[in-house]
Amino acid sequence: MSRKSKTGEKPRKAAEGNPTIAIVGAGRLATFLTAALHDAGFTITEIVSRDLPRSRRRALALANKVGARAVTAKSAALDATLLWFCVPDREIHRAASAMADRLVALNLARQKAGVHIALHSSGALSSRELAPLRTAGVAAASVHPMMTFVAGAHPSLEAVPFAIEGDAAATSVARQIVRVLGGNSFSLLASRKAAYHAWSTLTSPLLLAFLITVEDAARAAGFTPHDARRKSLPILRQTLANYERLGSARSFSGPLVRGDAETIAQHLVALKQYPQARELYVVLARAALRGLPVKNRNGLTRALRAR
Ligand SMILES: NC(=O)c1ccc[n+]([C@@H]2O[C@H](COP(=O)([O-])OP(=O)(O)OC[C@H]3O[C@@H](n4cnc5c(N)ncnc54)[C@H](OP(=O)(O)O)[C@@H]3O)[C@@H](O)[C@H]2O)c1
Repeated sequence: MSRKSKTGEKPRKAAEGNPTIAIVGAGRLATFLTAALHDAGFTITEIVSRDLPRSRRRALALANKVGARAVTAKSAALDATLLWFCVPDREIHRAASAMADRLVALNLARQKAGVHIALHSSGALSSRELAPLRTAGVAAASVHPMMTFVAGAHPSLEAVPFAIEGDAAATSVARQIVRVLGGNSFSLLASRKAAYHAWSTLTSPLLLAFLITVEDAARAAGFTPHDARRKSLPILRQTLANYERLGSARSFSGPLVRGDAETIAQHLVALKQYPQARELYVVLARAALRGLPVKNRNGLTRALRAR
């Protein structure tokens, strides 16, 4: 039977020695990862979902794309060598417990056959979340890609950094998988994960929170969010391109770098009806005063204070 990829590309042939993989969850990361692993030549055996009609439907749709079985914690065969948890952070420990119970029920705990590696992909939580599986003799690691996965987008994993932490047996397999997927793995101490994930959250989810606040400011100027998005994109793209090529200081333009304190004061008046945009403006302007080259620092500081 020829395996069909989501992208229509022929999946690479399964390499000998590659782990076989069961995915827990069928949400954003699971949907992307299942297809990426399948296309890269890994065999996906099972998609494990909660025992709820909607969860099972999603798991079945995902399993069908890669020729896997859709199962629940009670029916999983757990015949893959690796279990990859793609569930919300708050569910990882519970799901790991359910899988550990299943391994014990199937008499597979501490056996040579079946699952011997477990991974999860939380950026903030460490491999300790997988403790119930460790107790059952499974090596555990956390593997977090610094990338955003949403329905309808298929990002490349080329050079995407993956933060890895956990047991040696699990981290070495995780590194091998990341290499095959095109990513770059690096080690991260468990104690640094929360800070690492705060950084990571600022890069995409909170960048979007920034962008919706930008739309608010555009509304003050009489533009719809749709208009704001269209009109902002050229300058946003160029700013990112400059940041990549020149770094932050040399990419910095506008009234703060010129020291135009009166202009800043006018902005704050114009944003009076949009307090959230105004508040963010002030926080970011202060960050600019701390970390970027500005002229007329005292005048700017006074303008930001007099609000
Ligand atoms: N999305 C990203 O951009 C991204 C990037 C890097 C890392 N991650 C990490 O990936 C993990 C999943 O994130 P996500 O964005 O993919 O979340 P998501 O879209 O909300 O998907 C979560 C999935 O987990 C399932 N689930 C919840 N509890 C479960 C349980 N006890 N047993 C089995 N399945 C369960 C949900 O199914 P039902 O609710 O239908 O049952 C859903 O399919 C998180 O640890 C996150 O930090 C995500």
